[in-house]
Amino acid sequence: MKLNFAEQLLVNNPVRAAVQMFYEGPLLRRLGGTVQGGTVLEVGCGRGTGIEVILRQFGAAHVCGLDLDPAQIERARKRLERKYAGQISLVQGDAERLTFANASFDAVFDFGALHHVPTWQKSIAEIRRVLKPSGTFFFEEVTRAALERWIYRKFFEHPSENRFSETEFLDELRSQGLRDFSGIHRTLFGDIFIGTAKLPKP
Ligand SMILES: C[S@@+](CC[C@H](N)C(=O)[O-])C[C@H]1O[C@@H](n2cnc3c(N)ncnc32)[C@H](O)[C@@H]1O
Repeated sequence: MKLNFAEQLLVNNPVRAAVQMFYEGPLLRRLGGTVQGGTVLEVGCGRGTGIEVILRQFGAAHVCGLDLDPAQIERARKRLERKYAGQISLVQGDAERLTFANASFDAVFDFGALHHVPTWQKSIAEIRRVLKPSGTFFFEEVTRAALERWIYRKFFEHPSENRFSETEFLDELRSQGLRDFSGIHRTLFGDIFIGTAKLPKP
């Protein structure tokens, strides 16, 4: 689901960009390695800071940013299209129904998008489908316990059912065939978890 006004303010700003650039990007690279010369998808790319992180810190050759909200795609387009011409593509679409061919990406990134997706399990299935064998899924996610806190309930909007704990999220990845998990890093008292998993070779 699209972000409400308060959450748009929370994510579309330089502080959030700095967290992605200087904390989450380096941490994910330590956990999952780089994707030198690879083709990468970011689901829920928002204004596109993650796309820049993936190009600059992971060495991707091309990043496709996908977001449900056309306004977010437009923000990313304004910020990145000229600077990274030929290296990026931006697509309005739903992470539950990806339109890409099977096995088309070396890596998929999720910077805090799947807890906005009503049937996030479908998105995991789609991510698995579009990953190449040996491809890596990099994720940073927000738990059900976090979404139940007063501050989240008061200011932000999320799907009210089918939220996940860290364990449920990781179990779903396992049950859909992802393996080779990195260690899981937790921040904000376990409200946010960060890690990587791989699709094995057939
Ligand atoms: C919390 S924001 C995170 C934005 C950015 N990745 C970041 O870390 O700052 C979640 C993003 O996911 C997008 N989103 C929500 N549901 C989606 C869906 N079903 N498919 C694709 N994008 C979705 C929202 O529009 C929003 O831009």
